Amino acid sequence: MDQLDELLTCRLDFRRRKAEPCSIVIFGASGDLTARKLIPALYHLFTEKQLPDPVRIIGFARREKSSEAWRAELKAGVEAFSRTKRVDGRLWEAFATCIEYCQGEFSDAQAYAKLAGQIAGFEHAALKQNLLFYLSTSPSQFAEVAEHLSKAGLLKRETTEPGWQRVVVEKPFGHDLLSAQKLNTELTRFAHEKQIFRIDHYLGKETVQNILMFRFSNAIFEQLWTRQSVDHIQITVSEKIGVGSRGGYYEEAGALRDMVQNHLLQVLALIAMEPPVSLEAESIRDEKVKLLRSIRPLHSSQVATSIVRGQYTAGEVDGQPRVGYREENKVRPGTNVETFVAARFLVDNWRWSGVPFYLRTGKNLPLSASEVRIQFRPTPNVLFAAQCGTKLDANAITLRLQPNEGITLRFNGKVPGTSLQIRPVRMHFSYDSEFGAYTPEAYERLLLEAIEGDATLFIRRDEVETAWSIIDPIREGWSNRSLSNDEFYSAGTWGTVAAEQLLAASGHTWRNPQPVS
Ligand SMILES: NC(=O)c1ccc[n+]([C@@H]2O[C@H](COP(=O)([O-])OP(=O)(O)OC[C@H]3O[C@@H](n4cnc5c(N)ncnc54)[C@H](OP(=O)(O)O)[C@@H]3O)[C@@H](O)[C@H]2O)c1
Repeated sequence: MDQLDELLTCRLDFRRRKAEPCSIVIFGASGDLTARKLIPALYHLFTEKQLPDPVRIIGFARREKSSEAWRAELKAGVEAFSRTKRVDGRLWEAFATCIEYCQGEFSDAQAYAKLAGQIAGFEHAALKQNLLFYLSTSPSQFAEVAEHLSKAGLLKRETTEPGWQRVVVEKPFGHDLLSAQKLNTELTRFAHEKQIFRIDHYLGKETVQNILMFRFSNAIFEQLWTRQSVDHIQITVSEKIGVGSRGGYYEEAGALRDMVQNHLLQVLALIAMEPPVSLEAESIRDEKVKLLRSIRPLHSSQVATSIVRGQYTAGEVDGQPRVGYREENKVRPGTNVETFVAARFLVDNWRWSGVPFYLRTGKNLPLSASEVRIQFRPTPNVLFAAQCGTKLDANAITLRLQPNEGITLRFNGKVPGTSLQIRPVRMHFSYDSEFGAYTPEAYERLLLEAIEGDATLFIRRDEVETAWSIIDPIREGWSNRSLSNDEFYSAGTWGTVAAEQLLAASGHTWRNPQPVS
């Protein structure tokens, strides 16, 4: 960074709330998410002095174990899963003094009394009053835990007493609109909406947060961000892995619930929303909800023409053999659960009327990558376009969300030489080259924001419910319909032929994410 860049760096941290001393209670403390994501994130925040001081972390789970044993498990987890892998012995010792375990069953009132006793034993007043409850549990347990916390006097709804309590809940938030509404009703009996922080870890990613900066801090791009300039938009979230050991979970979820309802619709909302009136959480979330509500509702009878599903069969990814989904562990033989979805949505508002938004996600695809491609309209059919026909590539901006995070502008240029040739060239911004390889994990940002009480990166009640109202008719359209032959794709390919046809109907083609060397 040169001196001018340094001078022009606009620091917005003054907006940040202060992280006040607090106690963080993780329900589901012996689970996979705690070991792989939550504790590594808290450890990094601690080593970077971003956690409040003092802070306490209490793990609550069913298994009997001592605090020492839990700390040893967590250390092994940080060594295995954290982004640095390395654990500094001295820093870990300091971090470990903030951690304790509370054994208990979620349904047992006595366990919450014990937890309350543990918290009451902390010396610093703020550690007893400021409480962050992280529900890393199955959604069916959210309400039970919240009710017990409330009865134990640990979670207070709209109190005037000093301190705060917040509840962070993991995805999936319900499995359809009705269940999400029920969950919301149950949770809001014990916590006000402003105390509830619904996680979609995609929103914690740097590149996803950068969508708003890119759009609203650059005059040149935002002017192009309309139906006048944009031909269509493609959002792809592809995964190279199959369902692996998560077959049981996936049988209940499928790609539509697991990825489209949350991550893909969230990215779509950020890409397409109107500028918010301010950077306050509610202004941003208002605009996201407005955008989701502008997505043209599909009747279940229209699903076949706008949404394509698929399921992988045996194949190869990177030369490695893969079994078909129906042969995976804990998967029902003959199951119709989708491992791939391609969708065409229309956004009925002034800015986007008539512009298709194509969303696609799937497992066992050739590459793991998330990207958004803004495909601009072709040039008028004169001059070079008249000569080249469809070979003249239309301009595009690609936001690569992960991996090889960056932004690419694609335009045409003259191939040097005496002959007259035009071909696409790229201007590329890479996060790594510009800022170095440091990219904090999404959970670091999300945990910190929850501690600070900033809800911008969390999903509001009306947002989650609107997203389900988009998804439910699609599921209805598929229900009781077995997968047909053209709804299968071989592992290692980019999905079903029908997904290609979905775009071909409007003269479009999928632009697959490319490996970056
Ligand atoms: N894992 C991920 O990467 C991931 C990603 C996104 C979202 N999520 C969501 O996060 C949540 C947790 O996932 P996970 O993978 O960590 O689950 P997990 O490995 O199955 O862990 C579940 C945890 O809940 C505890 N638990 C379950 N029932 C209990 C009860 N009745 N009383 C007390 N403790 C109980 C378990 O304690 P014991 O072990 O002591 O029985 C364990 O600590 C799920 O909703 C999941 O969908 C997970």
